[in-house]
Amino acid sequence: MGRRAERRTILLCVTGCIAAYKSCEILRALQKQGYRVKVLMTEHAAQFVGPTTFRALTHEKVAIGLFDDPEDPIHHISLAQEADAVLVAPATANIIAKMAHGIADDLMSTTLLATDAPVFVAPAMNAGMLRAAATQENLECLGQRGVTLIAPGTGYLACGTVDAGRLEDPEVIADVVIDALEASEDLAGLHVLVTAGPTHEPIDPVRYIANRSSGKMGYAIAREARRMGAQVTLVTGPTELEAPRDVDVRHVETAAQMYEAAAAAFDAADVAICAAAVADYTPTRVASRKLKKRDGKLDAIALTETVDILASLSSCKGRRVVIGFAAETNSLLDNARAKLASKGCDAIVANDVSRADSGFGSDTNKAWWLDACGVDELPLLEKHELAREILRRAGAMARKDFSQS
Ligand code: CTP
Repeated sequence: MGRRAERRTILLCVTGCIAAYKSCEILRALQKQGYRVKVLMTEHAAQFVGPTTFRALTHEKVAIGLFDDPEDPIHHISLAQEADAVLVAPATANIIAKMAHGIADDLMSTTLLATDAPVFVAPAMNAGMLRAAATQENLECLGQRGVTLIAPGTGYLACGTVDAGRLEDPEVIADVVIDALEASEDLAGLHVLVTAGPTHEPIDPVRYIANRSSGKMGYAIAREARRMGAQVTLVTGPTELEAPRDVDVRHVETAAQMYEAAAAAFDAADVAICAAAVADYTPTRVASRKLKKRDGKLDAIALTETVDILASLSSCKGRRVVIGFAAETNSLLDNARAKLASKGCDAIVANDVSRADSGFGSDTNKAWWLDACGVDELPLLEKHELAREILRRAGAMARKDFSQS
């Protein structure tokens, strides 16, 4: 169920550049999504970040020198063969030049020459070095040979200027690699609509009613749906999360805005997954000025019920598949069964948000799948694994509907 195939191994090659510290964040982002990461660093990289840091993060030996491992005389070949993907991040002008010209004079360059695995290169360097004709030609050459280049952005550089050459965001680098490794056609031809995150219901210009949703579950569903080949629209309330790549993202604040955006996107959708924690009530009147403290008490804020987006989409779903969530703190299955019946959707994913491993903001989720056939208990899964499981089930329902129509 849902686990990343055999916990694949990514060999992270770290070269000597001030951005080397960001490799730790790339490593964590890859691990969070279920990958084993091994680190290979150059002697120069070890001047910027100590191998102990990477050893602590990976619980594995860190490879540096060609002859460091007495038990493995052909260390470069074993590293090259073991990797399902090789990521060079940050990549200096030097390693890029070596790769382009087949120079193999240390553990990293020999490994890179020996590997058959897909290679990803995220350059980071001074803008002048990046613009140099030699570097540009080397990068072009690598691109032509099938290496995936993760272009550096513009930003504040170590030399004190704001210019091109800044390492791409660590989360984005990790996503580019995972997108390529996980790409499938499982949901090809389907359009998936996802709602995610909390909504903010304004009381006055500075205050609002919100909830504890982090948006992680909905974002994981959108990201995985894209990786499974679907066209994806994500309607999201305010979150701290990075928008998934290649997804049509519509940012909203309130339940009313979320309803409008979701209803507008629903026409073109084949599957809708409502993972948002939508406010059930919104202040009846929004004060145009900041409310002032008066007499030490505030008796009440009048609230009006919001539109139930899930129920509303389900009521006109036609051949579409609509999935909802039930975030509960007690009587989980009874409440979820009642929601499945009252909302009119095809399935409910129920989770107990009072559990530490399943609550708002956690990276894992313990869930139950309820549909017309009954209840399925799912194991405790990382959110990206649960996302895949939900999408597999929703995709199968949508394909069945297609074949029957
Ligand atoms: N939902 C929705 N629009 C709303 C309220 C909820 O689309 N205005 C959706 C959620 O996205 C979720 C499902 O309904 O898929 C259940 O949400 P939940 O907050 O668990 O339940 P509620 O319907 O709000 O009921 P209650 O708060 O009483 O548990």
